[in-house]
Amino acid sequence: MHEKNRTIEIFDTTLRDGEQTPGISFTTEQKRTIARQLDALGVDIIEAGTPITSKEEKEVVQLICDEGLSAKICGLARILTQDIDACVDCGVDMIHIFVPSSEIQREHTTKMSEAKVKEQAYKMTRYVKERGFMCMFSAMDATRTRLEFLIDLYKTAEEGGADILNVPDTVGISEPFAMYELVGEIYRAVKVPISIHCHNDFGLAVANSLAAVKAGASEVQVSVNGIGERAGNADLVETVMSLNAIYGLKTNIKTERLFEMAKLIERITGIPIPVTKPVVGDNAFSHESGIHTHGVIVRTDTFEPGIMTPEMVGHRRRIVLGKHTGKHSVEKKLSEIGMSPSKEELEEILERIKELGASGKRVTDDDLFSIAEVVMGEIARHERIVVLKELSVMTGNNLIPTASLKAVVRGKECTSAQMGLGPVDAALKAIQQVIGGEIDGDIELKDFRIEAITGGSDALAEVIVGVKKGDRFVTARGVREDIVMASVEAFINAVNRLMQR
Ligand code: KIV
Ligand code: ZN
Repeated sequence: MHEKNRTIEIFDTTLRDGEQTPGISFTTEQKRTIARQLDALGVDIIEAGTPITSKEEKEVVQLICDEGLSAKICGLARILTQDIDACVDCGVDMIHIFVPSSEIQREHTTKMSEAKVKEQAYKMTRYVKERGFMCMFSAMDATRTRLEFLIDLYKTAEEGGADILNVPDTVGISEPFAMYELVGEIYRAVKVPISIHCHNDFGLAVANSLAAVKAGASEVQVSVNGIGERAGNADLVETVMSLNAIYGLKTNIKTERLFEMAKLIERITGIPIPVTKPVVGDNAFSHESGIHTHGVIVRTDTFEPGIMTPEMVGHRRRIVLGKHTGKHSVEKKLSEIGMSPSKEELEEILERIKELGASGKRVTDDDLFSIAEVVMGEIARHERIVVLKELSVMTGNNLIPTASLKAVVRGKECTSAQMGLGPVDAALKAIQQVIGGEIDGDIELKDFRIEAITGGSDALAEVIVGVKKGDRFVTARGVREDIVMASVEAFINAVNRLMQR
């Protein structure tokens, strides 16, 4: 069942299973923003929520249905008429009904016999179809359900009119070989399409989803950043890129929007994307060690998959400086700002970068350029285009954080006052406004990290930023006792370096 031309449907459950992540609750506006972004990404179906849960949940699902998106909107329902009616009221395109099917769940939750589950599954699929809706049927905990009964149940739902059958690995206990066997059995027993819904309790959700596709499933259920119950669901970006790049299968996803999508969910949930996360993590296309960076500078697929590039997923490649840095990356970064050290100077610069990296410090581009200027005796050469003169910030429990700032940009004194979500946000907006008025082209703040480098309430704050202008990207640091000052200092250092040619 591994035909190359198949298009696999992407069913996104970020707003439903994703919202069941302990500690996550989206506001109405956040849900609408996520739905619009998922639609722009190209997902085929958006599971918008479980309308029976509350009046508010029902209203949000209704609002998402009214957005007029291209994606189909799906609502979740137990096999109960009132749950299904709530979905109908919202105007969804598809109703996803589910019932516990494993012995352990039936005995300890619904107390329904296998016969009763079958009877109710039939009645409720018919109920959905008689009301004129597309019906997805899920046998919850399918991977722990007696196989004979499971097949019988899916056939019953098919007879009732289900348009698609979903196979949930509810507690994430399957593994790819078992999943391949199970989905293969179901695929051979029914005629309607199969969807797969994997949880990540053993870190196998994506692998299990791929195995299910190989066995015949034509739809995968995923969530952005893998959020969901316990260890979450199969991650959308990893699943899509594996299907595309490894299996050579099509999806309707605009992959160049994947990074942006993952960042939106990171920002809204406050759950940081780990640096090592495949595809969208900070390190996914970063290189530090000498051998790797040399290879990548010559030809990127020497130390990257090649079948997946940062451009394909809207991410970017980074050459990172540190204790493993080799001379090729130093030479390349310096040549970008027109510095060409001699062989001896290059060795000296490299030595100092490695020392800085070995001391446990993150080495920024600004550090590299400062070291190079010292080694090459060019201290005076670095003209500062932006110089901060004054900064004051007001914040408090009953106050919108506001920053006012005076700076000299290209010799001209400029002022700005801005409000923000917090004092750092307000100060960075003020400095960006001042700079934006005097320098052509957009300067974008891409990365921002705060670390305390000493302990206690008087700790030194270290802020590292990554700033982009056109195709140039520069990292710089600011270190102060005051987080706001450290942030503005880091930003100004980066802009000064960006403008250096
Ligand atoms: O994990 C699960 O079984 C579910 C069902 C509602 C499909 O989320
Ligand atoms: Zn689930």
